[in-house]
Amino acid sequence: MSEASFRDLSPDLQADPEEYVDEVSLRPQALAEYVGQKAVLDNLRVFIKAAKGRSEALDHVLFAGPPGLGKTTLAHVIAHEMGVQLKTTSGPVIERGGDLAAIVSNLDEGDVLFVDEIHRLNRAVQEVLYPAMEDFEIDIILGQGPTARTIRYDLPRFTLVGATTRESLLSPPFRSRFGYVAVLDFYDAEDLARIITRSAKLLEVPISAGAALQLASRCRGTPRIANRLLRRVRDFAEVEGDGTVDERMVETALTRLQVDSAGLDKMDRRVLSTLVERFSGGPVGIESLAAAIGEDRDTLEDVYEPYLVQQGYIVRSRQGRVAAAKTYQHLELPAPAGTTGTLF
Ligand SMILES: Nc1ncnc2c1ncn2[C@@H]1O[C@H](COP(=O)(O)OP(=O)(O)O)[C@@H](O)[C@H]1O
Ligand SMILES: [Mg+2]
Repeated sequence: MSEASFRDLSPDLQADPEEYVDEVSLRPQALAEYVGQKAVLDNLRVFIKAAKGRSEALDHVLFAGPPGLGKTTLAHVIAHEMGVQLKTTSGPVIERGGDLAAIVSNLDEGDVLFVDEIHRLNRAVQEVLYPAMEDFEIDIILGQGPTARTIRYDLPRFTLVGATTRESLLSPPFRSRFGYVAVLDFYDAEDLARIITRSAKLLEVPISAGAALQLASRCRGTPRIANRLLRRVRDFAEVEGDGTVDERMVETALTRLQVDSAGLDKMDRRVLSTLVERFSGGPVGIESLAAAIGEDRDTLEDVYEPYLVQQGYIVRSRQGRVAAAKTYQHLELPAPAGTTGTLF
């Protein structure tokens, strides 16, 4: 199993079909089953109710936030609650304006078009998308050269649901075409314990309340990681125990998976120790840090860094990334004078 496998950008159908199936089966369908993100859900509930009351399509929605926090799940929940179909595609898959035209012209009235990694749509495709989102119209160019002509088509009123790990990469005009932009946060341990308990029930894994909470505090605030760790703990419980997941079993499994007491894994620790040891705690640019740990910059920025920043291990400054006192504490190293977050 690769080091980063607990927070891959998406479940990998090829690499682990069983896990992919599990992920889909654990996905809440209805708003009432979706745990946490209260502010976002409260708003969505209103917008969905209002749109249904008017028998209209829901306005376009953008979900932003790190991988595994429930963006794709929310797209499905919206389609389910609106009682419409969901069509899924993703930014890098749509190469030409014509590809997008083909997709949107096949939608039915009210359908949800879910575009994952929407920040990766190229300019040409975005140009086609703008009038489609705003006026439900699309221009299709027929022929080439001097005889080419443009035909304008009316589209069904659809709802575009976009998901992105990089909201900052969306151009302001694109972003402004969404009626609602929701930024998802990492989950607290209580919500994660509820998610784990729910998943355990669906997977028919007996788990104690204490074990659920312990797992919840060590999964990087991320439901996808919580579910993955649960499956791995289940393996240990079945092979090395009596199948029941208790606190001792969680401890054994997480130790074996090299997830530490703070819930950080090997890769997190490598980021932190590289920052401290190779760059004297920073400030260091994201490119240099990425090169030193042998990861690409986007992965470091989208997948690893957000949680370390949210937890106060890393501070982002204008000069670059800086290790905070919490990092030195975690690595059991003395923090130099003047370290951010030093109390004395
Ligand atoms: N709020 C939630 N409540 C329950 N389960 C969740 C929630 N958010 C995510 N999950 C679980 O985590 C998995 C990953 O969520 P997903 O929507 O695919 O994340 P994202 O699209 O943001 O990367 C889902 O399969 C689902 O089982
Ligand atoms: Mg997703």
